[in-house]
Amino acid sequence: MTLTINRLGGALGAEVIGLDLTREPANEDMDRVHQAWLDHGVLVMRDQQITAEQQLTFARRFGTAAPHHLNPNRHPDHPEILVVSNERRKDGGGTRGSGQHWHSDYSYLEGRSSASILRALQIPSVGGDTMFANTYRAHDALSETMRGILSPLTITYDYSLVYQRYYKGRTDRVQLTDELRAKAPPSEHPIIEAHPETGRNVIFFDPTYANAIVGMEEAEYTAIFRFLTDHLTRPEFIYRHHWKPYDMVMWDNRCTIHCAVSDYDDAERRHLNRVTVTNSHAAH
Ligand SMILES: [Fe+2]
Repeated sequence: MTLTINRLGGALGAEVIGLDLTREPANEDMDRVHQAWLDHGVLVMRDQQITAEQQLTFARRFGTAAPHHLNPNRHPDHPEILVVSNERRKDGGGTRGSGQHWHSDYSYLEGRSSASILRALQIPSVGGDTMFANTYRAHDALSETMRGILSPLTITYDYSLVYQRYYKGRTDRVQLTDELRAKAPPSEHPIIEAHPETGRNVIFFDPTYANAIVGMEEAEYTAIFRFLTDHLTRPEFIYRHHWKPYDMVMWDNRCTIHCAVSDYDDAERRHLNRVTVTNSHAAH
């Protein structure tokens, strides 16, 4: 099979043409997909009318796929698949309203994510895009002086903040118990780091879960967080994906941040399957 890679945006994003995941892809094709993912940050594979099992098999070529440690909204047959849906569930197990602020999946965990692989099953007739920002470009656009200021700094992350910031009073979310909190204890991460596979520097900052900067006063880190949020989400660093049914999008959480745009009619169903990969390795 010959794959074609076409860029979709000036900052990041490319589509992979010719990938048939209804059969086991050749190692050479998986190598090309892996390299394209590293090169472009976001890969779009259209019309993937595959089974949940086939999506999972593809994801496992890149690392470990494990059930979401906190969110119980799992695929009934494959717990490693997180169901991302605006379905109104009365039992509090849904994902309504998730991901609508800039973030990187699993940023708050010590063992972070490499790839997220999201496949659309139902999408609204209009709206519901996902935006991605390239954090290599954000790093490279910093002045030498600003790099010098940010380089020694470490941010603390805390999953429970999302409940205070965005899920307050929500009855359709699973409640954050001490047991869940213990599965995602606060963690620390440097602001500037080298991507573990490409070696290129990125800004690693997730405004949804960032708590503080080690050794700084609140007024100081609040100012830096505001700058980082504005800087990372500059329009020239962004690719905006307009979903079609059966689009499968694979992104690199180590050099991008993303957010789901909440602009669609909530009476329409938006339903996707996500696999999140940790412990990244070469595709075969
Ligand atoms: Fe996300």
